[in-house]
Amino acid sequence: MIELKNLSMSYPMRQERLQILTDVNLTITQGETVAIIGPSGSGKTTLLLLLAGLEQAESGEIKLINESLGTMDHDQLADLRRDHLGIVFQSFHLIPSLTALNNVSLPLEIAGQKDARLKARQMLNKVDLQERADHFPSQLSGGEQQRVAIARALVHSPKLVLADEPTGNLDLHTGDRITELLFTLNEESGSTMVMVTHDEQIAKRCQRVLRLHQGQLVEDEHHALPA
Ligand SMILES: Nc1ncnc2c1ncn2[C@@H]1O[C@H](COP(=O)(O)OP(=O)(O)O)[C@@H](O)[C@H]1O
Ligand SMILES: [Mg+2]
Repeated sequence: MIELKNLSMSYPMRQERLQILTDVNLTITQGETVAIIGPSGSGKTTLLLLLAGLEQAESGEIKLINESLGTMDHDQLADLRRDHLGIVFQSFHLIPSLTALNNVSLPLEIAGQKDARLKARQMLNKVDLQERADHFPSQLSGGEQQRVAIARALVHSPKLVLADEPTGNLDLHTGDRITELLFTLNEESGSTMVMVTHDEQIAKRCQRVLRLHQGQLVEDEHHALPA
């Protein structure tokens, strides 16, 4: 599902470059749930953006679903995201001028699906927001907004779900509910999930735990499979 070969990434700084990833190699197979854990500033978001084709690697190769991102142009990357990726951001990224329902149906409408609104409604039911379908993001709590964002990310049954600290802007209790929801929906669909977090408890729920530190990804050994 995901293959990283000698992936390196750095950002320009005044004097030298800020090294984020150094020669990272990683294989993630279909259906796996993988946590990327690391302190703030370690490059977790950068890694997810690279996986989503939203940021360009400095060197090395990123393969998603047997396609090498480096060989794809802007439109091809957008198509790949539309067809196969679901992305959940820390700060929800809903479109403020659209209702919850329209936020969820938009990706389906862009993809030209006929029953977009019906599917969006079903997905809103799954995240228990049927009563909020006609509310705008500003009329929803943080937890509700994130549930809409999750519904939007999963409505087209993506093969790969990328989540960037999805509970980072939520209180503890709401965050726990969101985590629960993400894992439940992921289990139902059998999609691959890469979850970026700095929370050990959330990381433990994943089958694999990878730690990002000084540009290297190191996997926890003997990580017990979640029950
Ligand atoms: N577009 C960018 N240009 C320059 N530096 C960046 C850019 N994006 C992130 N950084 C820097 O790269 C480092 C890693 O950022 P990030 O991937 O957001 O870390 P994390 O998500 O783990 O907190 C940080 O020091 C950040 O300031
Ligand atoms: Mg981040």
